[in-house]
Amino acid sequence: MAEHDVIDLLMAQHGQIRDLFDEVEQAPPEKAGEAFGRLTRLLSVHETAEEEVVHPYARHKLDNGQGVVGDRLAEEHQAKRLLLDLHKAGVDHPEFWERLAELRTAVTAHARSEERYEFARLRESTSVAERRAMAAAVRAAEALAPTRPHPGTESLAMNVLVGTPLAIAERARDLIRKGLGRS
Ligand SMILES: [Fe+2]
Ligand SMILES: [Fe+2]
Repeated sequence: MAEHDVIDLLMAQHGQIRDLFDEVEQAPPEKAGEAFGRLTRLLSVHETAEEEVVHPYARHKLDNGQGVVGDRLAEEHQAKRLLLDLHKAGVDHPEFWERLAELRTAVTAHARSEERYEFARLRESTSVAERRAMAAAVRAAEALAPTRPHPGTESLAMNVLVGTPLAIAERARDLIRKGLGRS
């Protein structure tokens, strides 16, 4: 199944994020807040899982991983600041729609850069089993992730938790092996 591969899973979420932006923009005024709440939750858990699982792995696996991932983290930090400001302002704020457009531009450019410069190369340099383990780890991270943006946690994920995502991926891989009856 497509969502057993971490790259397919994350790219499907990029599509869901794009659809949720459409939903917020097209919602009647009384539904906009609820749709924006769903967008906030998905963006928050998606970026957290990338920061905890995918970026550390990419940094370790890719040539110039440090540079590629550093650029992505800077983009995520900027997007999270915009998201947090919007979340605090709320849909009734006079500048909400203008700032939402700014957030959408930033998030879209960030997703495109991830797909081009990080995910495509990660797919080339990982096995099917690694990508399955990472998909399981992403799901686990998303289940535990904060549902509101926390700008500033990017460097924490990079510097403090850098060993952890690999351990999570290892555990996920063990679980998958057991699940397949191969252990
Ligand atoms: Fe991201
Ligand atoms: Fe992403």
